[in-house]
Amino acid sequence: MCSCGEPRRGWRRCTPSPMLLLSLLLSTAPFGFLGEETRQVSLEVPGWPDSPQNLLHIQAVGTNSTLHYVWSTLGPPAVVLVATNTSHSVLHINWTRLLSPEPEGGLTVLPMESVQFSSALIFTRLLEFDGVSEATAKPPGKPYPSYSLAEFSWNNITNSLHPDTLSATFQGHPKDDPTGAFANGSLAFRVQAFARSGRPARPPRLLHTADTCQLEVTLVGASPRGNRSLFGIEVATLGRGPDCGRIQEQHSIDDEYAPAVFQLDQLLLGSVPSGFVQWRPVAFSQEQAGRASALSCQASPLHPTLAHSLPQSPVVQAFFGLQQNYCTFSLTFGASTGPGYWDQRYLSWSMLLGVGPPPVDALSPLILGIMAVALGTPGLVLLGGGLVLLLRRKHSSEYQSIN
Ligand SMILES: *[C@@H]1O[C@H](CO)[C@@H](O)[C@H](O)[C@H]1NC(C)=O
Ligand SMILES: *[C@@H]1O[C@H](CO)[C@@H](O)[C@H](O)[C@H]1NC(C)=O
Ligand SMILES: *[C@@H]1O[C@H](CO)[C@@H](O)[C@H](O)[C@H]1NC(C)=O
Ligand SMILES: *[C@@H]1O[C@H](CO)[C@@H](O)[C@H](O)[C@H]1NC(C)=O
Ligand SMILES: *[C@@H]1O[C@H](CO)[C@@H](O)[C@H](O)[C@H]1NC(C)=O
Ligand SMILES: *[C@@H]1O[C@H](CO)[C@@H](O)[C@H](O)[C@H]1NC(C)=O
Repeated sequence: MCSCGEPRRGWRRCTPSPMLLLSLLLSTAPFGFLGEETRQVSLEVPGWPDSPQNLLHIQAVGTNSTLHYVWSTLGPPAVVLVATNTSHSVLHINWTRLLSPEPEGGLTVLPMESVQFSSALIFTRLLEFDGVSEATAKPPGKPYPSYSLAEFSWNNITNSLHPDTLSATFQGHPKDDPTGAFANGSLAFRVQAFARSGRPARPPRLLHTADTCQLEVTLVGASPRGNRSLFGIEVATLGRGPDCGRIQEQHSIDDEYAPAVFQLDQLLLGSVPSGFVQWRPVAFSQEQAGRASALSCQASPLHPTLAHSLPQSPVVQAFFGLQQNYCTFSLTFGASTGPGYWDQRYLSWSMLLGVGPPPVDALSPLILGIMAVALGTPGLVLLGGGLVLLLRRKHSSEYQSIN
């Protein structure tokens, strides 16, 4: 429905077809979702003597439900999300178990029978490709050895906790950095929760609700191994059942909030009631996020992966027990032509993680106005034509009756 032309500066321009326009106009539902409209959100960093401060508990309490997001950089960055049907559920951490080699049972949400849905995401590796397409190599080019995010050392989260904006940042660099690639660099995971729905000021301005969290991943200052290195990230989810599902692509004619991005990618986690991950396929190569610094973002299909080939996350094991089956996919940012990480050694990408039905973007007021005008002119012509025909017929029938 959406015809994409030549990638221009590494960026696809899409022109929506009239059919898409019409179907969107007809299917645009009023803004609404089944979750709770507002939640009492609190962020805490549960502590334990001598443990690094790297567990963030976001609790979002509504009238009939509570969501728990447990983000942690014990092991690779990961989040466990749990939805309960009571406003009184609590997270319980058994630190001795969580920090032991067998963390199963170290993380529970009580009362257990209130849990309606749970899932997890793990950010396992930072990928780097040479980006230079040799005649035989397909983009993004030859891979360099990846950085395992389990082998990173992470900051003390307490110092980046902002209760006013409901956000916190995990910032890390490889523990072992023989080439000094991260001497001036870091990889950051900024997590933000929301008490109500809205849109952040920074593109791609994903629509959030009180049932969601936003994650912004930023790579800054690290030395790339190639002159035109492309970076990527590998993400794992818990495998359920024999097949991994797929990333859904939704198209829109509306790019008011994310200039020149007409697509929204979405991955459902589990069956109904389910969770979701949602993102616009765009990343930015400058802190000033905008059209000029926009990079495309390619997602690979999901594929089944066994636990032993992935860095393990203690928080995920602590809540779900030993899991053998995961589904992984990777996202790569940019192309070897056009703007890139190399310009300013900067790359950022964001996504939304949530429970329940994913937020649906209504058409923005500006686009609705343009459509009213665009559809209005032909509409008036049609209406005018119809009237003329009607009058003519009436005229001729009068003429006949006189006869
Ligand atoms: C983390 O920072 C907080 C506040 O600055 C401090 O109280 C705490 O001891 C620190 N934890 C570690 C493990 O350094
Ligand atoms: C909360 O529960 C009450 C009574 O069970 C119900 O009427 C109401 O619709 C529920 N609210 C939400 C937001 O689910
Ligand atoms: C925590 O886990 C340890 C080790 O499995 C166990 O001995 C202890 O009783 C647990 N503590 C609580 C409060 O459940
Ligand atoms: C929550 O769900 C459990 C089963 O999943 C059910 O037994 C319980 O009655 C529900 N509680 C409320 C308050 O709806
Ligand atoms: C790190 O920054 C310093 C000072 O800005 C610079 O001299 C050095 O070359 C940089 N190192 C790397 C690996 O980029
Ligand atoms: C990177 O660019 C420099 C200078 O333009 C060149 O000397 C070098 O060979 C290039 N390195 C690679 C890996 O292409």
